Amino acid sequence: MNSNRLSPAMQAALNTQMNKENFQAQVYLSYGCWADSEGYDGISNFLFRHSKEERDHMMKFLEYILKRGGKVSIGAIPEPHDDPKSVNDCFEKVFKQEVDNTTSIYALVKQSFDEQDWATWNFMQWFVKEQTEEENLAIELLDMIRVAGGKEATHSALFSLDKRMGERGDSARLAQDATTDNP
Ligand code: FEO
Repeated sequence: MNSNRLSPAMQAALNTQMNKENFQAQVYLSYGCWADSEGYDGISNFLFRHSKEERDHMMKFLEYILKRGGKVSIGAIPEPHDDPKSVNDCFEKVFKQEVDNTTSIYALVKQSFDEQDWATWNFMQWFVKEQTEEENLAIELLDMIRVAGGKEATHSALFSLDKRMGERGDSARLAQDATTDNP
């Protein structure tokens, strides 16, 4: 008896998104390394924490697929994009990545609606809310770099920004406190 409650198309789409979240974790990880090597410890700390958050998103999809009796397909993680060229470029890339992810999440919501797969539709609502928060965060980063001078930001403005982000990191919830239900 088939106990898989996901359609083949939905299972494939959820697996694709699960692997995409894992790729995003890799991208944040690589940007975190880049920031650290450039001397931006605060920004690096923030990016490393965010990488863990993306990994938790991946686990959330993985657990859901299993819970619905589906088959998880762990794919290869593509190589992250090139290193950012500057802090400005880094934050622009982060924003673009989050907007792109929102598009993928919305496509899954639409697919679940079209299939009348209400369990998946309900599951996806957490990600709709999360993407709003992630986009807000990315917009906040763009605002911070704009105030610091954008592409023309001085060393001193970038120093202050990095310090500020390091302080934010301390107040952020630690990755080890996150669960797959509440990443
Ligand atoms: Fe898992 Fe930043 O979206």
